[in-house]
Amino acid sequence: MKKFIIGSILSVLLLTIGIGIQQGLLFAKPLPYDDEQKGLDTQITIHLSHVVAENTPKGLAANKFAELVEEKTDGEVKVHVYPNASFYNDENEFKALQNGDVEMIIPTFSKMTTYLPKWQVLDLPYLFNTDEEVHDVLTGSIGEQLLAELEPYQVKGLGFWHNGFKHLTSADLPIHTFENLQGLRVRTMPSKTLEKQFETVGAIPVPISFSEVFSDLEKHAIEAQENTASNIYSKGFYKVQQHMTLTKHGILGYSVLMNEKFWQSLPSKIQKQITEAMKETTDWQFEQAVLMNEKDLRKLQQLDNFEIYKMSAKERARFKEKLVPVYDYYYANVDDEKILEQIQKIVSP
Ligand code: LMR
Repeated sequence: MKKFIIGSILSVLLLTIGIGIQQGLLFAKPLPYDDEQKGLDTQITIHLSHVVAENTPKGLAANKFAELVEEKTDGEVKVHVYPNASFYNDENEFKALQNGDVEMIIPTFSKMTTYLPKWQVLDLPYLFNTDEEVHDVLTGSIGEQLLAELEPYQVKGLGFWHNGFKHLTSADLPIHTFENLQGLRVRTMPSKTLEKQFETVGAIPVPISFSEVFSDLEKHAIEAQENTASNIYSKGFYKVQQHMTLTKHGILGYSVLMNEKFWQSLPSKIQKQITEAMKETTDWQFEQAVLMNEKDLRKLQQLDNFEIYKMSAKERARFKEKLVPVYDYYYANVDDEKILEQIQKIVSP
């Protein structure tokens, strides 16, 4: 009996060792070291969430930034980009950033005005005339002053990116003059200055999240909206709007934001590499944004059932004059005339 028990134990033991060797569980050689595994133990991951399509000034820049960061850090930092509000949307992305649930977001500066009222200066109508003026303001000392406003929010501002000039689209009737906006429900980004802009011409501003604009236009819950050619084309707004008026009445641009705690946790060498990647992306991005809006406007011009009008110089001047009270609103409600004065020194009147 004793022999039988010892025999059985030995057989089970031998069988287990045999299976172990066959499955490579025992005496397994370590896997050959290859690129896939390189630095896995030390890798830093940045999740970057944004709300637009990939083929847009912001979408392309986010991907370019990811590439450059990976290249400059020799793969030590990986940036995973989540476009199209697939991770966080307009409503929840800033809170997610502050909580450290996501490391980076790229909201329009207009959407940040809920937290940073001084950024409304960038929403003032007819403030900028050219993309170069926007570049000089956003990438110079004024941009730095605006980014410094983020400090109390534990958010690091890496810089600003550009999309382009906004135009108007509408459903049933074209907008040839500002009077045509009267009574229309117009979607805006959540910025008091933008809301004031539409109230001033008798329209009804409706602040809603970018990811809902298409369906709300489709349902006629809103009748018009303002945006760049690139956003209008990439989100297919032309399918649910019949008219576009080239007004160039304001700009749309972005703040590139990182969770401050995460930024502070990075070794200084990596911070430097990220800063370089950001600078390189920004230079490239401003040029691409202009080209992309030109290209997307040409595509919009070729569409059937989508009419594009250029607001005449005379109507443009009337529109600008009509919107002067928006500046009065800004002076009365946003306690910072200095930034506007500095911008006015850079832009042509
Ligand atoms: C919008 O909401 O219209 C834009 O801010 C979308 C974007 O991020 O470009």
